[in-house]
Amino acid sequence: MAGITSGAAQVVESTASLGIDNMHVSFGGNHVLQGVDLTFAPGFNGLIGPNGAGKTTVFNVISGYVRSSQGEVRLHGKDLLRMSRTQRVKAGIGRTFQAPRLILDATVMENTLLGRHHLFRWGHLAELLLLPQQRREETNARQICMDMLDRFGLADDAHEEAGALSLGSQKLVEVARALVSDPTVVLLDEPAAGLGADDVTVLLRGLREIQAERNLCVIIIEHDLQLVTSLCPKISVLHFGEIISEGSPEHVTSDPAVIEAYLGHGFEAEEGGEIHEVEGPLSEHHHIDHVEEEGTLEEVWTEDDGPEKGESS
Ligand SMILES: Nc1ncnc2c1ncn2[C@@H]1O[C@H](COP(=O)(O)OP(=O)(O)OP(=O)(O)O)[C@@H](O)[C@H]1O
Ligand SMILES: [Mg+2]
Repeated sequence: MAGITSGAAQVVESTASLGIDNMHVSFGGNHVLQGVDLTFAPGFNGLIGPNGAGKTTVFNVISGYVRSSQGEVRLHGKDLLRMSRTQRVKAGIGRTFQAPRLILDATVMENTLLGRHHLFRWGHLAELLLLPQQRREETNARQICMDMLDRFGLADDAHEEAGALSLGSQKLVEVARALVSDPTVVLLDEPAAGLGADDVTVLLRGLREIQAERNLCVIIIEHDLQLVTSLCPKISVLHFGEIISEGSPEHVTSDPAVIEAYLGHGFEAEEGGEIHEVEGPLSEHHHIDHVEEEGTLEEVWTEDDGPEKGESS
């Protein structure tokens, strides 16, 4: 395992669920991931970094949406890169997408049920014949989905079309769909972006409950640093396709390499250390609140009401 910055980093490796070793990804001549090593254990893990750092690409490689040219990804010791996407879901990988991918003219319940599809034992013939085993399985799956929707405040919307919901609610449906697949590792790509304060509260309460009940390994990409630092005891920082810092929230937010990375992406420093937003990728939808005098990066990003960004991959 490389990439842990010396100092306050505290990474427990012995219980690691998911290990990434020397991951490389290029799109044409664009080297997006350049030898990324990461381990993730049960609990909340943050993956942060400026826009375009390669965060979503890490999730895409783990879940089989993008191929890496080199490297290994192991889940509980099993090689994920040889598996199809569905096999990875069966192996325990659940995910959400940065821009929600729901079937907008299907109901919230139907979208959520898709998360359990790979667990169904009875096929379409049983469904056509309405065999009792199939009906029992379907009833059970609906109950599990309804319980999960309820945890995220969506039970009353279960029979609405997903397209009728706000973006925030659609993102919560994606989280519910990822969790009903019985994952051991859940990849959440900016789940709080576009959510109002009440929805963020619902999201965090639901995630904390389920993580504790199932000892899940949750990996969360999020631009809201305050959210990440309050939720995740371990944070990894990606910059230009490399892990530049890793460890506790206190460690990474005071690491000069991290501060420097953000300064280069939409922020500039004045004499005396005060930094301001400048035109750049981050300025599209984030602004800086403050940086403490001694150089601790805190509350750096705050969402404004700008439009949601599309998926970059
Ligand atoms: N499928 C793809 N084809 C070509 N280029 C891609 C693809 N996916 C990602 N990229 C490029 O790889 C780089 C990293 O993208 P990625 O989406 O992983 O960044 P990110 O850290 O998730 O950024 P953001 O915070 O903006 O979501 C970007 O330059 C992006 O344009
Ligand atoms: Mg992304």
